[in-house]
Amino acid sequence: MTKRFHQAGRHPSDEVRINPLFARHGEASVPRYRLPDEGLLPETAYQIVHDEIALDGNARLNLATFVTTWMEPEAARLYVETADKNMIDKDEYPQTAAIEDRCIRMLADLWHAPDPHQAVGVSTTGSSEACMLGGLAFKRRWQNQRRQQGKSIEHPNIVFSSAVQVVWEKFARYFEVEPRYVDVTPERPHLTPEGVLEAVDENTIAVVPVLGVTYTGIYEPVRDICLALDQYQRDTGIDIPVHVDAASGGFVAPFLQPDLAWDFRLPRVQSINTSGHKYGLVYPGLGWAIWRDRSALPEDLVFEVSYLGGSMPTFGLNFSRPGAQVLMQYYNFLRLGREGYYQVQKASQEVARHLAGEIAGMAPFELISDGSDIPVFAWKKREDTGWTLHDLSHLMRERGWQVPAYPLPSAMEDVTIMRVVVRNSFSMDLAHLFLEDLKRAVDQLERADQPLPAHITEKRPFHH
Ligand SMILES: Cc1ncc(COP(=O)(O)O)c(C=O)c1O
Repeated sequence: MTKRFHQAGRHPSDEVRINPLFARHGEASVPRYRLPDEGLLPETAYQIVHDEIALDGNARLNLATFVTTWMEPEAARLYVETADKNMIDKDEYPQTAAIEDRCIRMLADLWHAPDPHQAVGVSTTGSSEACMLGGLAFKRRWQNQRRQQGKSIEHPNIVFSSAVQVVWEKFARYFEVEPRYVDVTPERPHLTPEGVLEAVDENTIAVVPVLGVTYTGIYEPVRDICLALDQYQRDTGIDIPVHVDAASGGFVAPFLQPDLAWDFRLPRVQSINTSGHKYGLVYPGLGWAIWRDRSALPEDLVFEVSYLGGSMPTFGLNFSRPGAQVLMQYYNFLRLGREGYYQVQKASQEVARHLAGEIAGMAPFELISDGSDIPVFAWKKREDTGWTLHDLSHLMRERGWQVPAYPLPSAMEDVTIMRVVVRNSFSMDLAHLFLEDLKRAVDQLERADQPLPAHITEKRPFHH
């Protein structure tokens, strides 16, 4: 397959015009696709970029993304003050490194690591990098064990549901591990213990349940999967570790479902990732990967960087990386504490459940999930009438709302769903406005005597 990068379509003009209000004498435009020969004044360059991005979607009306789009002014001030911090320069910025370590201990504690001081962790650019590191550690661990046993290290595999986020498909392809997808079904739209048991064997490096499936927000049953793997070990002697992809749920479950055992309370759970930039409430890009203890992370993956005259272990795909997001995570930990995180996530969940309830009451729709796990819910159309959820998504977009419609994963791809992600700052007031617009759009589609032209509501793959 030929890859096509950045084919956004060539603009009819090769020049970006400069508004005469801030152009210097003789300055009229800059080249659009070529590095300009000469520079502009800072305020002119600023204005051009500022004006151009005003055409991006309105972040508050973006119900498609999980990623934080608003932080309070003190956090924004900290962001500007710390934009120069490089996370890899532990020696130059020892306090930033110390704060990263504090965040790791706090997360290990939040997720019930047996001894948070013995847990190992790293900050990353997002969950994707954290998942890659989690997967790599398992692959290496499996290879080391197999070598010791004098067995083949060919054909490792990794098991997850067909509703897994695209990062795991990437991990499998980039790091040459066979992905084994357990198909989701309408009755059980998530990974199941039975499905896991059918897929695993002695070459399985790990099983990956997701806490907050991207399509629906549903928690996969981590505990039941671990129990099934305990029984599998008793029956076969094969010990298969579990990594929990808690990209969203890692910052929700500890506050909204504190009694749910999905984390290091389960001895089989060796590592967990989360996105600081999702329900961790930090601007992108920040993720975290935590291993329950040192034995879970093979030593040959760890590199040393200099730190305070000595050295410090690191594990990551990048070298240089911004440190500001880590400092903003720490800011949120101090600012909110457990109670604050609980209040923020609870407010989002109340909005999600209210909206889900209202949408369940609308004749054309049936809920797939109701926001009771993470504050995310999805619905489908009950019947195939003259219009589709793609048409509805298009009409909502005309009012500024970004609400994606997309097909479910393989084995259920005939079902198209629509999903709403409720995040901090999506208030109940905004939810009422959203509902009014949704009802108006549905009404318009029900009354239309012909469908919207196909090119307008073209189906696109969606990976949020
Ligand atoms: C379950 C899951 N895993 C991984 C990711 C990738 O996360 P990130 O965007 O932080 O790289 C996502 C993003 O939506 C997700 O939902």
